[in-house]
Amino acid sequence: MFRIQKAARVAENIFEIWVRAPHVARNAKAGQFVVIRVDERGERIPLTISAVEQDSVRLIFQVVGKTTEQLSRLVEGDEIRDVAGPLGRPSAIERYGTVAVVGGGVGVAGAPMIAKAAMEAGNHVIGIIGARSRGFLILRNEMEGCCHELHVATDDGSYGAHGFVTDILKGELNRREIDCIWAIGPTIMMKAVASLTRPYGVRTFVSLNPIMVDGTGMCGSCRVTVGGETRFACVDGPEFDAHRVDFDELMTRLRTYHREEKEALLLFRECAAREGGR
Ligand SMILES: Cc1cc2nc3c(=O)[nH]c(=O)nc-3n(C[C@H](O)[C@H](O)[C@H](O)COP(=O)(O)OP(=O)(O)OC[C@H]3O[C@@H](n4cnc5c(N)ncnc54)[C@H](O)[C@@H]3O)c2cc1C
Ligand code: FES
Repeated sequence: MFRIQKAARVAENIFEIWVRAPHVARNAKAGQFVVIRVDERGERIPLTISAVEQDSVRLIFQVVGKTTEQLSRLVEGDEIRDVAGPLGRPSAIERYGTVAVVGGGVGVAGAPMIAKAAMEAGNHVIGIIGARSRGFLILRNEMEGCCHELHVATDDGSYGAHGFVTDILKGELNRREIDCIWAIGPTIMMKAVASLTRPYGVRTFVSLNPIMVDGTGMCGSCRVTVGGETRFACVDGPEFDAHRVDFDELMTRLRTYHREEKEALLLFRECAAREGGR
């Protein structure tokens, strides 16, 4: 069992938990994730390792369905059944020169560890983060501390620049030489970043978020097409060359279980209400 050391709401519908998981904390690198199971009967879901402190890891998640809602109801002292990891290949951190770390929505959760590692490798790091509006923005202060410069955008202009992270990235690409880019966020945002950077020929990594079950390359549920070949995001990724990813296929596959996911959430809420809210 893995004890929750701290739990908090950090933005609209977004929560963080610090979980005591010494093995994960000892070995975690930027870009990796864990697969968790809340309880014995729970489904497995992947979450990015967002930060590490001593023997604990931070997970930041948006409530989108049954398991994330169940997680959001946990408080300090509660325990999670499984935290497996660190999983996936770490980010390909090298000394590239100038790098941009672009995070959108809850995807910003994975940005600080990449930015920090890129900075430690001797890169000049430009952070670009965004959200739908001010209330959904996360980790602004933390990103300020691990980037040489930070740009913020909100779709509605309620904080920072009015627009998308891609608008800011485009401005930066036109203004200066950027040698490598990471983009983490909603699939549609990562697709937009890939389309934007392709003509500039800038190496671009995206952190893909297909449905995962075991996280160890056994079940095949996380398969994605990259450069015309089938790859398993849990073991071959989650980061891939953005210019070779079939984003449309990924988006279609992410919608496969929408009906079942809706039913599971309704059922969970009914049961939770009967049991007094948790
Ligand atoms: C490598 C990786 C890292 C991720 N990191 C984060 C993170 O740091 N924070 C965060 O909020 N989200 C993260 N996600 C997405 C997160 O796993 C899903 O939001 C979560 O599984 C939803 O579960 P649910 O039961 O609450 O919702 P459901 O109602 O079951 O699903 C809602 C939507 O979430 C996606 N999803 C559902 N089940 C899975 C699954 N087993 N694996 C992947 N996606 C699923 C599907 O798009 C689905 O339509 C990550 C996904 C991957 C692959
Ligand atoms: S999650 Fe099962 S193969 Fe990747």
